Amino acid sequence: MDRYTQLVNTPIGKTVAKQVGLPKPVPLKRHTPGAPVVDGRVLLGGAPGGRLAQSLAQVLADAGAEVSTPLRPDLRAAAAEAGLDAAPWTPQASVDHRYAALVFDATGITESAQLDELHAFFHPTIRKVARCGRAIVLGTPPESARKPAEAVAQRALEGFTRAIGKEIGRGATVQLVYVEPGAEDQLAGTVRFFLSPRSAFVSAQVVRIGKEGGKVPSDFDWERPLAGKVALVTGASRGIGAAIASTLARDGAHVVGLDVPALEEDLKAVAAGIGGSALALDITDADAPRAIASYLRREHRGVDVVVHNAGITRDRTLGRMDADRWNAVIAVNLSSIERITDALIEGGRKAVLNEGGRIVCVSSISGIAGNAGQTNYATSKAGVIGIVNAYAPELARRGATINAVAPGFIETQMTAKVPLAIREAGRRMSSLWQGGLPVDVAEAIAWFASPATGGVNGNVVRVCGQSLLGA
Ligand SMILES: NC(=O)c1ccc[n+]([C@@H]2O[C@H](COP(=O)([O-])OP(=O)(O)OC[C@H]3O[C@@H](n4cnc5c(N)ncnc54)[C@H](O)[C@@H]3O)[C@@H](O)[C@H]2O)c1
Repeated sequence: MDRYTQLVNTPIGKTVAKQVGLPKPVPLKRHTPGAPVVDGRVLLGGAPGGRLAQSLAQVLADAGAEVSTPLRPDLRAAAAEAGLDAAPWTPQASVDHRYAALVFDATGITESAQLDELHAFFHPTIRKVARCGRAIVLGTPPESARKPAEAVAQRALEGFTRAIGKEIGRGATVQLVYVEPGAEDQLAGTVRFFLSPRSAFVSAQVVRIGKEGGKVPSDFDWERPLAGKVALVTGASRGIGAAIASTLARDGAHVVGLDVPALEEDLKAVAAGIGGSALALDITDADAPRAIASYLRREHRGVDVVVHNAGITRDRTLGRMDADRWNAVIAVNLSSIERITDALIEGGRKAVLNEGGRIVCVSSISGIAGNAGQTNYATSKAGVIGIVNAYAPELARRGATINAVAPGFIETQMTAKVPLAIREAGRRMSSLWQGGLPVDVAEAIAWFASPATGGVNGNVVRVCGQSLLGA
């Protein structure tokens, strides 16, 4: 049996195979510089007693969005206070409208019976979401709930958003954002990202915003959030790494691209194209962490953003895998990230990573779901999630963050080498029915890297179009 046949005979595969080829994937809208955060009307709703309506209304007002709200006095008052001229919404009115986004504050839901608020809001509106539209539900992290009943109801939101992600169709995406009490003024960076076309290939994710981040200044430049910052991107000569380098440069950063000496010419070309610099070395060299740290200190007096993107695959089923394949993958994808991170954060206040720094790792859905033929790779990429979890508290103490993206099927040289049938299955097995582009991973990294997302720490976000693998 070939690998594709194996795949379609797994329980998930069977369901998918039935559907493969039927719905037409919608071309996804992506960000163009200067475009509005959200193009079209946003419906802002919430369960009574929620604590986020005011800050959500402010984020929407600052983003220049056209907004409607239900006729509830608290929601109308929140919109008015944010300076929004919000149109009144009733379930009947939604017959005529298409919504670019549905935003729902679910923090008022404190017991399971109140989950009917989700039904009341989304039932009349979910089929009114525009092409490539957005749905965002905001809740309280279950671990921060005051009572078990609230924790249960808040935990239930995750099943809801993951299920509507599978129903919504037409290139639209759905997210759940848990906001810790005290982090109400830190929504802007994350809500703007999820509303905008920057998050085109991110769906059915759960993000936590903690209260450590600090308020975003009112004169924050959303077009160039990384102006004056220095970013290191490993594996920057091609593929996803090149897209990360140019996206961070677009956002204003000076990018130091790093890649192996064999690809120095390609690396220099990428760096020249974005006004950045090139650092050719192998991250597995014993001396690499020290060399990187002293380069960044000498040339830039430190670094603000570190993206651990370099990675390799050496696929074989475990019984056929020699130790070299195993060791090479663990060394590049996992151990070198730990060693380099340690070198950049050692020395307390004198560390190479500047205060408020951002570390972003690149994991993979293989590290979440596991994948046949990739025991080494899945181990390394699950270990990357371990790095995020283990380092997050220490980084929070320095006002810094560490997070990871876990890409699904992304169109690169790596995936172009995959045999056609498996490649086609990889593309289609997601709620968006297509592969993502390197820029989709880059945009998620830019969101983590932004000074506006200091409360987003210790998160792992899949950039996979809600891939059915391990979803
Ligand atoms: N393409 C996908 O669908 C996909 C999916 C999930 C995760 N990822 C991850 O995204 C990252 C980028 O993947 P890509 O598809 O762009 O791959 P790629 O092979 O095109 O690029 C990886 C880059 O890393 C560099 N690199 C490898 N070993 C290095 C070393 N020892 N020192 C310095 N640089 C080194 C390579 O030279 C290359 O330029 C990887 O971590 C990969 O595991 C990719």
